[in-house]
Amino acid sequence: MNITRIALAAAIALASASVPLAAQAQAKIKVGLMLPATGTFAALGTAIENGFRLYVAEPGGTPARREIEFVRVDDESDPSKATDNVNKLIKRDNVDVIVGTVHSGVALAMARAVRESGTPLIVPNAGADAITGPLCAPNIVRSSFSNWQPGFASGVMAAQKGYKRAVTIYWNYAAGQESAKGFTEAFEKGGGKVIKELTLPFPNVEFQALLTEIAAQKPDVVFAFFAGGGAVKFVKDYDAAGLKKTVPMVVSGFVTDGTLEAQGASAQGILSTLHYADNLDTPRNNAFRKAYALTWKSQPDVYSVQGYDAAQMLSAGLKAVKGDIKQREALQAAMAKAVIDSPRGKFNLSPQRNPVQDIYLREVKGVNNEFRGVAVKALADPGRGCRL
Ligand code: BEZ
Repeated sequence: MNITRIALAAAIALASASVPLAAQAQAKIKVGLMLPATGTFAALGTAIENGFRLYVAEPGGTPARREIEFVRVDDESDPSKATDNVNKLIKRDNVDVIVGTVHSGVALAMARAVRESGTPLIVPNAGADAITGPLCAPNIVRSSFSNWQPGFASGVMAAQKGYKRAVTIYWNYAAGQESAKGFTEAFEKGGGKVIKELTLPFPNVEFQALLTEIAAQKPDVVFAFFAGGGAVKFVKDYDAAGLKKTVPMVVSGFVTDGTLEAQGASAQGILSTLHYADNLDTPRNNAFRKAYALTWKSQPDVYSVQGYDAAQMLSAGLKAVKGDIKQREALQAAMAKAVIDSPRGKFNLSPQRNPVQDIYLREVKGVNNEFRGVAVKALADPGRGCRL
């Protein structure tokens, strides 16, 4: 659905409403969307925004018929610009609520800023453990995951498959470090050993020397964290180096989510763990996928789901305060308590405000990450260091 159609839907809803004129005249809710529109994570930002807008345009998507105005900032996945960018939304644009972002390093700066300003923040992707750990706050909720969660589930799966020696490879920032930490924790608890950690700075994609090192180490299994454009190149290079035939991977699901058309044959058969699988055969997921494809003329991925669920959280909060977004405490309490009827399956938030959710084992088939089972049921991030 394009913006015009959304505006039209809102206008029709308003015209047919039997609400008092005073209510109709209420100011719009200002949503600050801080997402990447450029760089290796650009497509992830688009999918999140599309998912968010899809839910908002559904009947009841904006309770009390409050219209939404979006203020968008391209954060470029650049932590060095994050504080300035988020402060523009808070201080210059005076937004009511912020939705963002993808990159953990940028999101950490956002969390610090909203802890000061009190602005409600919904995190629709970035997994930085600290956001629902030491930096947790009543005004921060997450509709996605903590980095620890999918990594931990990959470790459980790799150990269950009987692998003993693993190499981890990842971008050396919070998302990669914490995903690999989760993997190592579960894998070593299950009897395995991580024999080597290979890293490169975000968003570098010069994998060759590291792939040569994997070939030399001859591990039983490789765990990886990359996403977006970087993940496309990693999977293709892994295959071109001949490693796909010799060293299996059990990876964080972001390596193969939203990337499969570009990865093509190189991705086929890769096992990964994540809180979504494309072919979850539930009425909720089927309806979501159909509506998303009709509206945006593309297939949804995990990022679209997280954006859709971020809007569901906002909607639950708005419902509780009858559209009065200025009632921050009640809005935040309702978002924290909400049970979200997600395309991934229903979930609620932990006391630290991170989703408690099933993590699925998936296998790449064609352009889908197909469901192969539940890797870990109702996995809650430990929320270490949160004092809520
Ligand atoms: C992160 O930086 O937290 C992240 C980025 C892309 C996919 C998943 C996590």
